[in-house]
Amino acid sequence: MKTRKPLLVFDSGVGGLSVLREIRRLLPAAPVVYCADNGGFPYGTKTEAELGARVPALLGRLVERFDPQLVVIACNTASTISLAQVRAVLNVQVVGTVPAVKPAALISRTRVFGVLGTPATVRQAYVDNLVREFASDCLVLRHGSAELVAMAERKLRGLPTPLPEFRAVLDGLLSQPGGERLDTIVLACTHFPLVKEELMAVAPRPFQWVDSGEGIARRVAYLCQGVEWEGPPSGLAVFTRADEDVHFLTTALRSFGLDRIVTL
Ligand code: DGL
Repeated sequence: MKTRKPLLVFDSGVGGLSVLREIRRLLPAAPVVYCADNGGFPYGTKTEAELGARVPALLGRLVERFDPQLVVIACNTASTISLAQVRAVLNVQVVGTVPAVKPAALISRTRVFGVLGTPATVRQAYVDNLVREFASDCLVLRHGSAELVAMAERKLRGLPTPLPEFRAVLDGLLSQPGGERLDTIVLACTHFPLVKEELMAVAPRPFQWVDSGEGIARRVAYLCQGVEWEGPPSGLAVFTRADEDVHFLTTALRSFGLDRIVTL
């Protein structure tokens, strides 16, 4: 099937770019609309009610405006809270992002692993259910960090991100009882793979790091089997609030193939 319909990739900020990177590897010809809800950022410190009201309504507007082939909610916080609601109101396929608990349980040798997400994600029943279903024989430590989200945003704006701050975030996991046996860390926020290098640099010992990006890209590629995109690949970044600060992101957005920026 030939089409010009783009993939719509959605997050509160730059985090979804870590998912977009994996999607681009598998589907280099797909036109992309990347939406960062900077008007609602950060999601990780918001309530379920706030996000439940905001995310489905905003995605509804975006789908109406850009008529995408498929929507990717490249955000663990939005997905674990409102994926079902979004699917119920949109008449387009929606791929969500959920913490990679299952892959972590498959590779952890010590049977102790960590889930590093936003404060909102780590308290979700969705995560309890993943742990019950896939990691019932593991000790799963959780830590929510809004600071690490802010640090990833700073990094992509080219601002300084001191390494000791990353160590403090890791200590939030490692200082919990059982932390000394932890061998695997799930990056359960799409912002976090963007600062994986820094986390690895301050880690007191080597860990296995797991995130959902590749799995999501494979799912998107599977759902797009038979789709042939016409025209040159294009990338548009959409922000929900006009903000001077967005200009600092121009270089980073370009490096992900997003060469035009608009406000919704
Ligand atoms: N990137 C988002 C996630 O995967 C949320 C970051 C935020 O806005 O707090 O959870």
